[in-house]
This record gives sequence, structure tokens and C-alpha cells, in this order.
Amino acid sequence: MRIFSGIQPTGAKHLGNYIGAIREYVAYQERGDAFICVVDLHSITVGHDPRELRDSTVSVAALLFAAGLDPERSTVFVQSHVPAHAEAAWLLGSVTSFGELRRMTQFKEKAERQEFVAVGLFTYPVLQAADILLYDTDVVPVGEDQRQHIELTRDVAERFNSRYGETFVVPRVEVPEIGAKIMDLQEPTKKMSTTGGTEQGTVLMLDPPDVLRKKLKSAVTDSGREVVRGPGKEGIANLIEVLSVATGDKPDAIEARYADGGYGDFKADVADAVVELLRPIQERYQELRGDPAELERLLVRGAERARAVSAPVLERMVDRMGFVRRPSG
Ligand code: AMP
Ligand code: TRP
Repeated sequence: MRIFSGIQPTGAKHLGNYIGAIREYVAYQERGDAFICVVDLHSITVGHDPRELRDSTVSVAALLFAAGLDPERSTVFVQSHVPAHAEAAWLLGSVTSFGELRRMTQFKEKAERQEFVAVGLFTYPVLQAADILLYDTDVVPVGEDQRQHIELTRDVAERFNSRYGETFVVPRVEVPEIGAKIMDLQEPTKKMSTTGGTEQGTVLMLDPPDVLRKKLKSAVTDSGREVVRGPGKEGIANLIEVLSVATGDKPDAIEARYADGGYGDFKADVADAVVELLRPIQERYQELRGDPAELERLLVRGAERARAVSAPVLERMVDRMGFVRRPSG
């Protein structure tokens, strides 16, 4: 089984990214062949600082390895190192309709926040479809917010297959059962995000332990004292999910354990669990960041493997679409 997912280099990675996505990539390594792409071409669709992009691209790659992606088994690579992505996106742009893209909720949300709405922001999901389809992907693990983009990818793949003949594997989306949408700790009706959320409510994967504890202990809850999920209890429900993922205990078991013991002990335990969850990742991250030559070597190897797998798929597309065969070399 082939899995593919992408993660943007810009914006500090947070607990939602870890729980909804990165942790899943690591788990999938046991079941199949994982391609994880640092999508720098996607990050230029909103205003960006070139120097920051370069640094954060390497930093996110280091974080992926630190979180447990094993370079022997998985392919972690940088999107712009494989030009086939941009080329395939151009081809797929003619198999995607304006109307489809206009319906994308992420585009609408992001466009609202921009003074300059780039065409690239509008066609972002086409590049995402290219990413996925170039690897004959079976499964795309993502958080809930990406579901619509993967549905579009499926539609585009099916349309291409019916217009030009069987070319693509039609991938399926998988969102985790617990943690597909981690909420902001201060505004628990909004998803955790470095662009749309609050600073205090966004737990960064690289926050030091005292900052993690402070953010988690000051999470907004409700005026009750029952540790249960339910209407009006978004804050508590979110913390139950976080604790469940951090400890491996089922949400039901957590509810039973804390029952109506009040929120103080519960929040302190969530804080401890998150500190312990992130501690080893933070340590490995620091080690890796201290060895830029090794990181570069890993990314060169990732790009080679990614090129080898995507090149024949791009060839297939070019051929089916009727372009004159390319001179080799
Ligand atoms: P991004 O950093 O925007 O590229 O997102 C990387 C991955 O994290 C994607 O699969 C997202 O769906 C996932 N993700 C982002 N925010 C959250 C969140 N608050 N809860 C769960 N997953 C998330
Ligand atoms: N759009 C995704 C996000 O914002 C990132 C992404 C780019 C992606 N290409 C992908 C995710 C391919 C899954 C598969 O999180």
C-alpha cells in the first residue's frame, strides 16, 4: 500500500498537525510505503519571506524525521526538488473546472485574509492533486480540513481516467478516528491553526515544557466540572482527545477516570502527557538541526526516490494526453 501526504513548511507546526497528521504518517509506515512531501510550492501561494521559507523547509523536514519517520522505510522529500509536481499540476489544470475550485472552503477562508489573492492560491488544490496522483497513491492521511481537497483529487483522477484512459490510481482519504480536528485551546469552536487561531490557544510542537504547561492549563473550558464530551463542552472534549492520543487511553476510559473530579487535576495531567509526548521529538529535532549535512543527505535521497517513482506516472500522463514523445536526455 502506498500512502502520500503533504505538509506545508510555513507556519510553526502545532499539536493539531502532530495529532491529525504527522503521528498518522508514522503509524502508516508499519502498513505500507510512505511518501511525505514538504510542500514548499504550496507555501508561496500566500505572501512569504524567501529566507524564512528556506529555513522552515529544512526545519519541517527535520521535525518529520524527529517525529519518527524512518528514512530507511519512508521517503521524505521537498516538493520543489521534484519538478514533475509543477508540470503535472499544469496538465491537471485542464481537467479541473473553475466551478470546482471556487467551491473549495479553504480557498474562500484564505482568500478572505489576503489583500492580494494570487491565482496560485486558487489553483492550490490542483497542485495538491498532482502531488497525490503522481505517486499512484492508495491512501492519503490528513486532518479533517483537507477532506474536500482529497475528494476533488478523486474527481480529477476519475475524470482524467475516463477522458484519456486508465492512468491514475484513485486514492482514498483517511482521517484519524480521534484527533482529526484539534481545536484552539482558547477558542475551542475553531480549529487549532497558526493562521486562524489564537497564540495562547495554539500548542506548538517546539514549545518548551513550561510554555506547553501554561497553555494547556489555561485552556478555556466551561463553568461545569464534569470531564465528559457533549454539547457546550468543546473545550473539555478537545482536551479528552489530546489526552487520549498522548496516553493511548480510550476517551471513555478517560471520562470514567476523571468523572466529576473537577478540571484542575485533569488539565494538569493533560499538560504532563503532552510534555512527555513531545519531549523525545524535541530532543531528536535539536540533534538533527545540529547536523545540516546529514539532513541535506536525507533530502537528496528522498528527492531521488520521489523522482524515480513519479517520473513514469508523468510520462503516462503526457503520453495519454497526446503530446509528442519527448526526446530522451
Ligand atoms: P499544514 O500544516 O496546513 O500543511 O497541515 C498539515 C496537516 O495537518 C494536514 O493533514 C492537516 O489536515 C493537518 N491539520 C492541520 N490543522 C489541524 C488540526 N487543528 N487538527 C488536526 N489536524 C490538523
Ligand atoms: N494542502 C495541505 C495542507 O494544507 C498540504 C498538502 C499539499 C497535501 N499537498 C498534499 C496534503 C497532498 C495531502 C496530500 O495541509
